[in-house]
Amino acid sequence: MRNGLRWVSAAMVLSALPFVSHAVESGVKVGFMLPYSGTYAALGSAITNAFKMAINENGGKLGGRDVVYYAVDDASDPSKAVSNANRLIKRDDVDVIVGTVHSGVAVALAKVAKESGTLLIVPNAGANEVTGVMCAPNIFRTSFSNWQTSYAMGNVVAGHKHKKVVTVTWKYAGGIQQIEGFKESFEKSGGEIIKEMYVPFPNVEFQSFLTEIAGLKPDAVYVFFAGGGAVKFVKDYAAAGLKGKIPLYSPGFLTDGTLEAQGTDADGILTTLHYADGLNTPRDNAFRAAYARDFKMEPDVYAVQGYDAAQLLIAGAKATRGDMSKKSAVIAAMESATIDSPRGAFTISKAHNPVQDIYLRKVEGGHNTVVGVAAKALEDPAPGCKM
Ligand code: PHB
Repeated sequence: MRNGLRWVSAAMVLSALPFVSHAVESGVKVGFMLPYSGTYAALGSAITNAFKMAINENGGKLGGRDVVYYAVDDASDPSKAVSNANRLIKRDDVDVIVGTVHSGVAVALAKVAKESGTLLIVPNAGANEVTGVMCAPNIFRTSFSNWQTSYAMGNVVAGHKHKKVVTVTWKYAGGIQQIEGFKESFEKSGGEIIKEMYVPFPNVEFQSFLTEIAGLKPDAVYVFFAGGGAVKFVKDYAAAGLKGKIPLYSPGFLTDGTLEAQGTDADGILTTLHYADGLNTPRDNAFRAAYARDFKMEPDVYAVQGYDAAQLLIAGAKATRGDMSKKSAVIAAMESATIDSPRGAFTISKAHNPVQDIYLRKVEGGHNTVVGVAAKALEDPAPGCKM
């Protein structure tokens, strides 16, 4: 009897408490799937650093809730992409994946995200199909499509009266699609690709290719390399005696985050990209100062993309006060967001890719100085996207 009484009184106390639907609100779980080793290691850490910086600027919260981070090093290895993605989804039960850098890994990751419905924000990899034929309500990108960054350069190279061009890239989706984007606009402008060269990813033995280029004597060379491989290519190009003889063009990944290591070998290279040094807007200046203060280095395009991935997620989480289970409300808020990016404000296309200006930049004194806008508010055509 005494036990029964005690039970009744406990129940009465509980029922007298105000109703709280979630006695303990859980934090928002963010899973980074990025390269922290290999040729793209520096890209993964720039994305992670700047993502966290944006969250810290937001009081360390998403929709008012704490943020819990998980991370997996994908090593830019497509063969491990599915198991790495499932580790974050099934073991860590993350609310959102932020990944990745390498296009081949991104396609596998997007497939898992599409099948599981996990919210995915791609903070670099340009694989066209991610916001093309594979597009899905839960998949967003805050970087670029491979088509976007290279398509903008075709007219520039043709405008410089270069008629015959040799292309060189790593043989994987990222490189192949960048070359295709360039080729499309360059040929439309009357140019001709006289040779396409492919190097296995992530090899950096460029000598035989450079010897062949010297023999072919094209008007210009168009390449796609990034990270550690970009540093090596630019240095080897100069060492082979080609710098100053055959102009080198590229999407801006060739010279972003790499200039300190490339030194004067990079001087004068023209590139196209959705970010540049010296934009000199209050927004970019504040971002650059904060990044330099926190990480003792200058930010690059990868940092901007990571920062904007967080800004996009902040917009989504705000709509539901951090309740990430309300997926359609989170997605609707992300779709209608205008991101106040250091690169310049951008909106999200129907296929969930940035609609953005592509700058023409020139390497001068260790910076990718903005020269002009190569393509204004460029939107990826997103072939095959049905949403
Ligand atoms: C890609 O694989 O899509 C990729 C990788 C590194 C870059 C740009 C694109 O800097």
